[in-house]
Amino acid sequence: MRQHRTPRLLGTLLLVAAAGISVVGAAPAAADRTVTPLGQVVPAPASVDASGSPYRITGGTRIRVDDSREARRIGSYLAEVLRPSTGYRLPVTDDSGRDGIRLQLTRKDAALGEEGYRLKSGKGAVTITARGPAGLFHGVQTLRQLLPAAVEKDSAQPGPWLVAGGTITDTPRYGYRGAMLDVSRHFFTVDQVKRYIDQLALYKVNKLHLHLSDDQGWRIAIDSWPRLATYGGSTQVGGGPGGYYTKAQYKDIVKYATSRYLEVVPEIDMPGHTNAALASYAELNCDGVAPPLYTGTEVGFSSLCVDKPVTYDFVDDVIRELAALTPGEYLHIGGDEAHSTSHEDYVAFMDKVQPIVAKYGKTVVGWHQLTGATPAKGALAQYWGLDSTSAAEKEQVAAAARNGTGLILSPADRVYLDMKYTKDTPLGLDWAGYVEVQRSYDWDPGNYLPGAPGSSVQGVEAPLWTETVSTSAHIDYMAFPRLPGVAELGWSPASTHDWDAYKVRLAAQGPRWDALGIGYYRSPQVPWPAE
Ligand code: ACM
Repeated sequence: MRQHRTPRLLGTLLLVAAAGISVVGAAPAAADRTVTPLGQVVPAPASVDASGSPYRITGGTRIRVDDSREARRIGSYLAEVLRPSTGYRLPVTDDSGRDGIRLQLTRKDAALGEEGYRLKSGKGAVTITARGPAGLFHGVQTLRQLLPAAVEKDSAQPGPWLVAGGTITDTPRYGYRGAMLDVSRHFFTVDQVKRYIDQLALYKVNKLHLHLSDDQGWRIAIDSWPRLATYGGSTQVGGGPGGYYTKAQYKDIVKYATSRYLEVVPEIDMPGHTNAALASYAELNCDGVAPPLYTGTEVGFSSLCVDKPVTYDFVDDVIRELAALTPGEYLHIGGDEAHSTSHEDYVAFMDKVQPIVAKYGKTVVGWHQLTGATPAKGALAQYWGLDSTSAAEKEQVAAAARNGTGLILSPADRVYLDMKYTKDTPLGLDWAGYVEVQRSYDWDPGNYLPGAPGSSVQGVEAPLWTETVSTSAHIDYMAFPRLPGVAELGWSPASTHDWDAYKVRLAAQGPRWDALGIGYYRSPQVPWPAE
């Protein structure tokens, strides 16, 4: 180790000197003053050209934004991240000027798309340019990561606040970069969901899939079927009080997600995973008898009654009300583990339900079992199989993909965030095996499913099922450090994929999570800095 020390320290001192900072007596603190290299970001940027002097945020820095509502809002968001730790005023202004932190929206550079951005950093300014506000927001996340981890703290820190010189040009590999939170098995409050949204935004995740119903709880108010929430939402795994979102609360989640450029994808799981609904309304059961509420963790025992007309009145009402709460494109109808529905009934059910989603202007997403029925035109299938899933089942999904069904990849033995890391992980399940950090990151969505065209892959999603997860601390521990790796698979070009380089970039995130109060799993596979 010793022989590496001197050059690194020298390099640091040179960078610090280049920034015009006194280095007298700086040697012991030099490690704190290292300027984060431009490419040391998660997800890895598409293109990095490191050159020139760093930019330094000071007490005189202004955040200069375009005269647009979105740019002003993103500028204010950035100011709120930076002010507590820097202690600077950082006024947000639409006075033009060539210095400071500049956030610019311009339609000029078509290659950036709606989510891409360019970040240029040099002596007088750091400028983020994007075509769309989502791109500007993603560029701001990159800027956060280029600043020292202490920038995330909520009290004044010493700095200095340097951004390495050069240019990042960055666009996503996939348009669908998701995370799912199961709010049914355990209920999570609006504030808990917002906390997770903020964590997802840091890694440029752009879809929040909420699993809003399951056997153990119905979590969204539906005016035409009020007992779904008030009774069906009244418990959870283990028998706790559960809960549900009123429409106002749900709108608040959607609005908050939108402000972080995440689209909420709501899921009502059908025809299985429906005990909470069946318990709430006797008429939804084939025998007309409501089962008791359920607080265990078995799956596959419940089914809507496929032959009853009232089932489709129910589905129509729920989808109509949910679609009205959903500005996004997608509505997820579940369709997994329908073990108590015959194949014939499953196909008939999906044939009737998918057009209801279309009727209310939304695009169907279903778990990949939907490919055993006839996926609607434009539908996406979310693959959650394992390496050990049968070739026939994989081929069924691949054939649908060849036939035009888009895929979201969530292989359970790679990206299910509820799988234990090792046998010693105190939380989580292990039916898909143990999923350490390298296993979670080290695969390529582009050629993952044999026989599925790369062009069918719309993206990736990291689901977090919550049979064993009931607090934000639990979410933190299971999501970190795996979630950023899945986000990187969704964002970064395949050419950047390299575990040995990734684990170093990931390790550098650890102090940032410490500063944000995110309690993560200190995987021995990752070279974390000493605490
Ligand atoms: C699932 O894990 N049942 C989609």
